[in-house]
Amino acid sequence: LNASLHVETSDPIAPVHRRTFGSFVEHMGRCVYTGIYEPGHPTAGPDGFRRDVADLVRELGVSTVRYPGGNFVSGYRWEDGVGPRDQRPVRRDLAWHSIETNQFGLDEFMSWCRTLDIEPMMAVNLGTRGLAEALDLLEYCNHPSGTRLSDQRAANGHPSPHDIRMWCLGNEMDGPWQIGHLDARSYGRKAAQVARAMKMADRDLELVVCGSSGSSMPTFGTWEATVLEEAYDAVDHISLHAYYEEHDGDLASFLASAADMDGFIESVAATADAVGARLRDPKRIQLSFDEWNVWYLSRHQAEAAVHPTDDWRIAPRVIEDRYNVADAVVVGNLLISLLRHSDRVTAASQAQLANVIAPIMTEPGGPAWRQTVFHPFALTARAARGQVLRTGLTAPGHGTERHGTVPVLDAVATHDEENGTVSLFVVNRSTDEPLTLDADLRALAPVAVTDAQTLSDEDPYAANTLETPDRVVPRPAEETRLEGGRLSAVLPPVSWSVITLS
Ligand code: AHR
Repeated sequence: LNASLHVETSDPIAPVHRRTFGSFVEHMGRCVYTGIYEPGHPTAGPDGFRRDVADLVRELGVSTVRYPGGNFVSGYRWEDGVGPRDQRPVRRDLAWHSIETNQFGLDEFMSWCRTLDIEPMMAVNLGTRGLAEALDLLEYCNHPSGTRLSDQRAANGHPSPHDIRMWCLGNEMDGPWQIGHLDARSYGRKAAQVARAMKMADRDLELVVCGSSGSSMPTFGTWEATVLEEAYDAVDHISLHAYYEEHDGDLASFLASAADMDGFIESVAATADAVGARLRDPKRIQLSFDEWNVWYLSRHQAEAAVHPTDDWRIAPRVIEDRYNVADAVVVGNLLISLLRHSDRVTAASQAQLANVIAPIMTEPGGPAWRQTVFHPFALTARAARGQVLRTGLTAPGHGTERHGTVPVLDAVATHDEENGTVSLFVVNRSTDEPLTLDADLRALAPVAVTDAQTLSDEDPYAANTLETPDRVVPRPAEETRLEGGRLSAVLPPVSWSVITLS
């Protein structure tokens, strides 16, 4: 197979937003407990944060972290997780049918973010709670001092405000599974009231209203339009969530998942703009893709139907998906889609960070390791700099069951004018044929390939495990040549690559 691409330098799409490389920590399964936090672990400091995990988070290049949920937030009382640990209540978490000890809470999360230079993205509970509690949480977090809740924060050891800029107005409120689920009109009104009051406290907050929890939701489209009709003036972003998996051995469709993400992003942007036009509001709502990943959801649902669990456990092992090469290629391709839409998607969170559908896995008391999906995320976060360029692609199409005919090649390019580097992120979606790529980069006049790495394997289902944590790692891309500003590369089937030139 042969494909070609060229880049245009005159009219970049948008800058690369650091917030594109966000992640998500929910009080779910072992994401917090025995994930990022495990007092007594050999690498944990006095704060209980696992240093081995923190090092991997740094290597992953995570910029923001959404917290504390997810479905969990819709039943959460934030006050339970602050103050002296021995006085914090143990509660039931109905979302995940678990016991929450509250030994890790808001202040621990903020300290953890600070040590890793991560920007927090805080979600408020609009399920069991509402306006008053959201305002209390905001006062506790952001008010400097001299009020009841800001003084309480200081007494809890945090005299400086947490100064959280980005806030999610609930989570997946369109989902019937959500505690306190609402119809679009009711949620839109509730979110608008909360948003307006939060902005009375601080007009510089960036607020994310809930969009659909997936493009296959029956209310998709009308949900976004109705919610924005109510809340357009008061919010800044609308959320998108999407999880992909290989269904019934259909690898070709799975590898084309980014085509679905492209369509999803473009539909939500068009819907938001249509509402803006109707309201005659010149503001453009940005998109926060604050849950995305590969998740073998249907497998978990089938298992849960056969073996329903009715116990209440602390930090149980739930949805600890083990990722393979194909999953990593899809994750790399989803990042290409997010970058390509940087004019609208200004924040994103891969869900989740540790153990729960995560790039980082841990054993309690034991090691931490990188799943296959860790690698495209880390390499993209490192190499995507400067501006996202418009890229013209010419590639053969191949038919897929779920997404119709898609090009076998997908790619995006970024250009850092300051350092004079250009990075190409490319995917070969063919399940069995290598792809020879001819990239015309003469407009950028690169002189050398400084780094070229590929993630692929003879076995697209090879995975990293506790026993073989480095079975799948990126390898130098061997057949890569640059001549007179034209780059040629041979991309193996089912592969994701990054090529940086200067
Ligand atoms: O990330 C796992 C769950 O997926 C989140 O709690 C929820 O928001 C989504 O449905």
